[in-house]
Amino acid sequence: MADFRKSVVYQIYPKSFYDTNGDGLGDLKGVTAKLDYIKELGADYIWMTPFFVSPQKDNGYDVEDYYNIDPRYGTMEDFEELAAEASKRGIKLMLDMVFNHTSDRNQWFQKALAGDEKYKNFYIWKKGKGPGVPPTNWESKFGGNAWQYVEKFDEYYLHLFDVSQPDLNWDNEEVREEVRKVVRFWMSKGVKGFRFDVVNLISKGDFEDDFEGDGRRFYTDGPNIHKYLQELNRETFGTDAEFVTVGEMSSTSMENCYRYASEDGKELSMVFSFHHLKVDFMGNEKWVLVPYDFQKLKDILFSWQKGMAEHHAWNAVFWCNHDQPRVVSRFGSEGKYWKESAKMLGTVIHCLRGTPYIYQGEELGMTNPGFTDISQYRDVESKNHFRILQEKGLTEQDAYRILQVHSRDNSRTPMQWDGGANGGFTTGEPWMEVTKNSSYINAQAELADEDSVFHYYRKLVQLRKDYDVVAYGDFEALAERHPQVFAYRRTYGGEELLVVNNFYGRETVWESGLDTAGFEKLLGNYEGGCPADGKFELRPFETMVLYRKK
Ligand code: GLC
Ligand code: CA
Repeated sequence: MADFRKSVVYQIYPKSFYDTNGDGLGDLKGVTAKLDYIKELGADYIWMTPFFVSPQKDNGYDVEDYYNIDPRYGTMEDFEELAAEASKRGIKLMLDMVFNHTSDRNQWFQKALAGDEKYKNFYIWKKGKGPGVPPTNWESKFGGNAWQYVEKFDEYYLHLFDVSQPDLNWDNEEVREEVRKVVRFWMSKGVKGFRFDVVNLISKGDFEDDFEGDGRRFYTDGPNIHKYLQELNRETFGTDAEFVTVGEMSSTSMENCYRYASEDGKELSMVFSFHHLKVDFMGNEKWVLVPYDFQKLKDILFSWQKGMAEHHAWNAVFWCNHDQPRVVSRFGSEGKYWKESAKMLGTVIHCLRGTPYIYQGEELGMTNPGFTDISQYRDVESKNHFRILQEKGLTEQDAYRILQVHSRDNSRTPMQWDGGANGGFTTGEPWMEVTKNSSYINAQAELADEDSVFHYYRKLVQLRKDYDVVAYGDFEALAERHPQVFAYRRTYGGEELLVVNNFYGRETVWESGLDTAGFEKLLGNYEGGCPADGKFELRPFETMVLYRKK
């Protein structure tokens, strides 16, 4: 069995990774060109966000044709070359499957609009509650009502995301069969894993108005979700024991994740959950400015670590992806302690129980770009909310302040390869501006510096391979109420790992009460060893990984 517990996944957002033909957009050849870089980092899998034919309203999460490569990214030959070159290096590919919805340009939806009943049933249509009144008051995740009126049918279709992303009707067996066909097609191309986009939204429940929230309780972790995932597993990837799958679980519950990611392997290998990344929201509202809640962050991560282990289920562990701001800007520091904080944050994730994911540029400590004008933004969600925030009465300046913190574009700026023009990402005009600090935060500079964030991440990846306790150990939370310290212990057979982190840019002391005799320091971001007396005097953003074997 593929040991995904010993593995690390590197996520690529192809559009912003590396451009080989000067059109300003990253491409598949660009991924092939940088495989040695990923190999050097030590990642086992590459998860690539969608590069299928798409109008790119949501950067490829609006799929027009599941079987072909968008010409912006290259050709099927480019893909095959990438797969072959990756395989030569022992790197496996994980593709991103978007099956909650399609693009409105997808032929299924086009046929539906043309009145073909078979394909109309591929989507979710309902009558309005009255003239101009949609079937329910549910909100789209990208802003506005989640239903779009189509005059021809005097009906609305559901779109939980953009109006150009109609939701598929999974209760229709023909839809599920089409989905299986797509999955089998990419399996036959030699990919070894899938990430399933917002997959816990595919089974819709009752279509009722939500007077408590935005509607999500009616379609999240819905009535047939486990049945549909088990069916997909049985009929497709479940036949290959080597296959690794991860489900993106939107606003999920831990109880459902015990089943999604159970080690019995009936559904998925692991899950992404996001509760720990809502600690700078107000409830579910992300478009606000509130300081992050450190205690809440710890409580959530600790409870998921414990709960998933107790129920024999497996986590994906991560800070960053293409929907999240850069973690060093979010929980670390862009200033004096930039490097220390980037290393500390990486340590917290990589020593947890779960499979770590590194999002392109995270291993360099890339930051949010700090865009100051709406013309610099590309993301549909950001643009919608920039407008909605001002409609709610916020000033333009306040709307910008919120975007600078929460926009998904914060992580989508081009990868910083070197200190030259456009960070070495393209010789043309980049589709999105490169962050100014590419002069010193870039791969070339960091590869040459043993003390860089890159080499630190490389060592973190290696730890998981060298020490079974990192991959398989039990988890125990420590210092649960300490206002600055994030600490935990892992144990496996006679092996013991202590991971101690100061989450803040000021010194702190932690009287752990632990017997720390005989611990050796495997990794850290400052000089010095393990205190012999259990008293940790931690410097700004200090991290240390301590190891002892009985
Ligand atoms: C997921 C993707 C995000 C996309 C959305 C709709 O959350 O990660 O980028 O916009 O699904 O497909
Ligand atoms: Ca290109």
